[in-house]
Amino acid sequence: MEIDLAEIGMFKGQQYEAIITTIDKEGHSNAAPFGVRVLENDEVFLRIFEGGNTIKNIKEKEEFIVNITSSPLMFTLATTNTIPDEYLSRIPETNDNGEMTYISDADAYLICKVKSLKNSFRENDPIKDTEVNFIKAEVVEINIKNNCVKPINRGIHALIESLVNYSRINIVDEKTKGYFIERFLESERIIKRVGNEEEKESIRILKEDLIGQGFDL
Ligand SMILES: Cc1cc2nc3c(=O)[nH]c(=O)nc-3n(C[C@H](O)[C@H](O)[C@H](O)COP(=O)(O)O)c2cc1C
Repeated sequence: MEIDLAEIGMFKGQQYEAIITTIDKEGHSNAAPFGVRVLENDEVFLRIFEGGNTIKNIKEKEEFIVNITSSPLMFTLATTNTIPDEYLSRIPETNDNGEMTYISDADAYLICKVKSLKNSFRENDPIKDTEVNFIKAEVVEINIKNNCVKPINRGIHALIESLVNYSRINIVDEKTKGYFIERFLESERIIKRVGNEEEKESIRILKEDLIGQGFDL
């Protein structure tokens, strides 16, 4: 069957937040959140800083699973440590690479095989001066478990927070106004980087409106 990420609401050129599950050589599972950018209908791109379990496992196995979920608990467990095995399901070994694992309640999961992995040392990166890995991977299988699957995108969350603050900006004190403006600028940065066209248009409308009201942006 032809692979088309648009089927699960993942469109070319856009970035989504997902949880990547991998298994190490000893058979231990690992889960962590990462930004997943869609390059083609069947190709994704990851940018992963060196030093974590996910990148170690991806380098060893050259395969991983992208879990599409909006579960706050799964994102939190995956970020603070990893997701315990009781929330995961295993896919039996189909090649010499051993089993794979996915989040049992994910709305969809994508089996991905690495096509290329390049790394470079990034100086002056705002996150940390370290090695970063650029991974292109082919999506070889899409498994949809919930037909209403919708991947998480940081743009819409940043926009909604901006709209809430916008609706209150004229009824708060000066200190809070300043705080809202700072938050607005951060949301604008996120949306310009990972938002879709509609989110970019929306934050532009909001900015023009705020400037029209006399705010210094
Ligand atoms: C929503 C979200 C998105 C993230 N995206 C990335 C990313 O694209 N690249 C990256 O290197 N780290 C990213 N991180 C941070 C990693 O998830 C974090 O470093 C994690 O501890 C790595 O875990 P691991 O050692 O199990 O791989 C993200 C974190 C969150 C919460």
